[in-house]
Amino acid sequence: MTIYLNGVFMPVEEAKVSVLDRGFIFGDGVYEVIPVYSRRAFRLQEHLRRLQHSLDGIRLANPHSESAWAGLVSQLIARNAGEDQYLYLHITRGVARRDHAFPQPPAAPTVFMMSNPLPVPPADLLHSGIACITAPDNRWLRCDIKAIALLPNVLLRQMAVDAGCAETILIRPESITGGAFMTEGAASNIFVVKNGTLLAPPKDNLMLPGITYDVVLELAAANGIPHEVRKIAAAEVYAADELLLTSSTREVLAITQLDGKPVGTGKPGAMFARLHALYQDFKRDVMRKNQD
Ligand code: PDD
Repeated sequence: MTIYLNGVFMPVEEAKVSVLDRGFIFGDGVYEVIPVYSRRAFRLQEHLRRLQHSLDGIRLANPHSESAWAGLVSQLIARNAGEDQYLYLHITRGVARRDHAFPQPPAAPTVFMMSNPLPVPPADLLHSGIACITAPDNRWLRCDIKAIALLPNVLLRQMAVDAGCAETILIRPESITGGAFMTEGAASNIFVVKNGTLLAPPKDNLMLPGITYDVVLELAAANGIPHEVRKIAAAEVYAADELLLTSSTREVLAITQLDGKPVGTGKPGAMFARLHALYQDFKRDVMRKNQD
């Protein structure tokens, strides 16, 4: 595997980062995950815009222009094997003596990129769907920032794995804004289907604005699938006809069991079948060709 670290492409075994890096000490950095189909980075501009939003959120200057990023990304793709890859970009506030406040003068940011083979969702998962659990969303209030500090997400995902499940769906407890509501998965976005309508939670500070989430809503809009973007009560998740999970690395999956009980019929439903087919067509006709 060839990685990129601070201006140099090198074998992953040769890459070294200081123990004083603020990413290592504080989790002080942000990241992106970008899927690559047929050696084309999918929605690169949207991913770079989300990266800029994350950098702005942690008050870290972007080390590269969009065109410089695009150049680095295409070099990384070219230097790694596989038509379909997923890229990981990671920027930290650099190396400095340990102090919570930002280093003054600013340290040079650490910039790291790697590529891995893009997983293909296994056929049996598409056929049977996945099992999920729910848990209280105990993360901070800036989940729109794709922060490398992922300890809550790590613990929440591990809860699912310990229960023999694929993902944890996060429920923000009741607050002054009303009853408990669903935000997203530990590392994915979640959609609810009720009476033929696709429901998506609104992009706000409590969830990551997923690029796959956007694609699914665009496909729904373009194909006349009834859909609504609005706050989703926890009760609506438990009473859903279907639940869907999306992410760059998992595409669109049906959730057929929740907290040990069947979702709807307990089998992937009609909305999943429709959106999955549309997503596969989109991948073939758009992601692998001229993009959108
Ligand atoms: N995670 N929400 C969270 C908390 C996520 O970590 C992710 C993706 C998503 C989906 O976003 P997108 O459709 O842009 O992949 C939503 C990536 C895949 C990861 O951390 O590996």
